[in-house]
Amino acid sequence: MKKIYIYKIKDKNVGDLRINAYICKLYQKKHKTMKTIVLATHNKHKLEEFKAMLGDKMTLISLDEIDLHDEIPETGTTFTENARQKASYVFDKIEGKYDVMADDSGLEVEALDGEPGVWSARYAGEGCSSQDNIDKLLKKMDGITKRDARFVTVLALISKNGIRYFQGEVRGFITEKMNGKGGFGYDPIFIPDGETLSFGELPAETKNKMSHRANAIKELLKKL
Ligand code: IMP
Repeated sequence: MKKIYIYKIKDKNVGDLRINAYICKLYQKKHKTMKTIVLATHNKHKLEEFKAMLGDKMTLISLDEIDLHDEIPETGTTFTENARQKASYVFDKIEGKYDVMADDSGLEVEALDGEPGVWSARYAGEGCSSQDNIDKLLKKMDGITKRDARFVTVLALISKNGIRYFQGEVRGFITEKMNGKGGFGYDPIFIPDGETLSFGELPAETKNKMSHRANAIKELLKKL
């Protein structure tokens, strides 16, 4: 009876750290998972993607679940700086009650010296859409035949013992026009090496097995 009541509390998302810590312990016991980690993102899509990749190896909880609604600062000039900044911000806010993981990702185009890089989300300006970013990139690459690129992710994992980084990438090339409507961001103009379809055309499960995020998670699981 008590257990059902606790899970109801979770559904209603009561943002009390003590209640949530208790729920997590019950959840861990039930699912025999190893560790509870807060993922420093408000992006639900990202949370689900990481959960799917981690399986039962770790329990990931969202910022909503710990009632943290702040906008997380992201002012670094490298993926590592940004990942560290996001993880440290949340870790300090929750006074180290949980370990915290943050990621920062982006697209690097070789012929453009790594652009858009850390500015991938706002390449065409603050508040721009993915379509604006794609349009800007394709315009810049007009006439360029060497179209190699890579998606990169850096994960920062912070605990009371310090901070560790894990990097993943997926290499491919930039197409000349958009292909497919799936995925997000630059997916419709990126074809990964070994494939003929773009990330916007490939099924999500295929992308999620080979993506920069998947490869960063593989590194993390290998080294932990
Ligand atoms: P974030 O650091 O994961 O939020 O990624 C920053 C930006 O990089 C996103 O807004 C996208 O524009 C781009 N990006 C990151 N990962 C992907 C991906 O898997 N597909 C397409 N675009 C991505």
